[in-house]
Amino acid sequence: MKLSFSRSGVLQQRAERFLPGGVDSPVRAFRAVGGHPPFVESAAGAYLMDADGNRFVDMFGSWGPMLLGHAYPAVVEAIQQAATKSASFGASTAAEADLAELVQQCFPSVEKLRFVSSGTEACMSAIRLARGFTGRPFFIKFEGCYHGHSDALLVKAGSGVATFGIPGSAGVPEETVKHTIALPYNDLATVEAAFAARPDEIACVILEPVVGNAGTIAPAVGYLKGLREITKKHGALLIFDEVMTGFRLASGGAQELYGFEAGEYAPDLTTLGKIVGGGLPVGAFGGRAEVMDYLAPLGPVYQAGTLSGNPLAMAAGIATLRALLAGREAIYPKLEKTTAAIADGVAKIAAELGIGLTTNRVGSMFTWFFTPETVTDFASAEKSNTEAFAAFHRGMLERGVWLPPSQFEAAFVGAAHGDAEVALVLDAARGALHEAVR
Ligand SMILES: Cc1ncc(COP(=O)(O)O)c(C=O)c1O
Repeated sequence: MKLSFSRSGVLQQRAERFLPGGVDSPVRAFRAVGGHPPFVESAAGAYLMDADGNRFVDMFGSWGPMLLGHAYPAVVEAIQQAATKSASFGASTAAEADLAELVQQCFPSVEKLRFVSSGTEACMSAIRLARGFTGRPFFIKFEGCYHGHSDALLVKAGSGVATFGIPGSAGVPEETVKHTIALPYNDLATVEAAFAARPDEIACVILEPVVGNAGTIAPAVGYLKGLREITKKHGALLIFDEVMTGFRLASGGAQELYGFEAGEYAPDLTTLGKIVGGGLPVGAFGGRAEVMDYLAPLGPVYQAGTLSGNPLAMAAGIATLRALLAGREAIYPKLEKTTAAIADGVAKIAAELGIGLTTNRVGSMFTWFFTPETVTDFASAEKSNTEAFAAFHRGMLERGVWLPPSQFEAAFVGAAHGDAEVALVLDAARGALHEAVR
């Protein structure tokens, strides 16, 4: 039986009176897939509940943070307890070093770090730090990678920018992005060429070590290692943006998964967000102490925040990372198994129906691209049939499965998802895929 969204429709109309598009972040408006976005009232474990009384299997986990599942008891309790002591002090608390220590346990390459309030802040601050440390103006990013919405990083960005087909963004003057070099992902030759063209001018290379924001794209064999070698050779820093992959692909993120968490291939800097705040607004950037000590008050690179290290956010992060560390032997294998069952299960149904679908998956993040061709970079992701994706998305939502509402976003599975949710997703996909290609 298909679901009704009438109450959400009314709430959307009301929201549109006050908020542009009715939302505070563009992709939430469902413009790429059509229909009214359901208005959420609550969530628990693997499920979202909306204003019409519908229940959905959550396949986007607040865009990544909810790895442990919604309203995870230890996280709820930590936030409640912290809130009784005041929501903010604007002064140091022991919790900041507690969370930093937990992060470092997971990410040995992060010798020192600074907390901020979003992934956007983490990435823009890491770029400033890299420029300050090296004294060089240019940096390299990759097409389809999204590193938040700061001006210099909004060039050929993935995520919502890709969803809406915006080449960059209005309001970003050309002078602001003239030091941004955007290159295709998974192509070392173009990186070599960029460094050859501008020796001693490129401060850093920033990338999603596994891309999520063009849909999921894995690094080719040797790609991360190659980037490390090139950046070292040219005295530039390598920044892994693990806002999405951090604590998700392994407790030590993509750098642990690929064996670069320490030693000569480790990144100089890492940016974090999402899971590190357990659902509260937290980001962080960190790495080699020598580089991090360039930050004020020790060094000349300025960076600050009224709510940075906020006590509620630190409490949620600490509870989340403690639970992850205590349970990691069970959590990561379960994530792998559940996600494979969902991703491969739907791929099999598509094959039976003769639908050309490419499934890219790394751990608990994955994307079904509506193209039969391999997807290795943004150009190949763009070959997807986004109309078929939109129809599929609508069909899944009507059957109680909420996928990220864009072809160019990764789906996420959490530790609360299990066999029951696999069955629900596969069941919904049988009908939705049939409809999507009719
Ligand atoms: C890889 C990556 N970096 C940075 C960001 C920006 O983080 P935030 O939305 O918290 O500003 C995101 C957001 O999705 C992301 O996926």
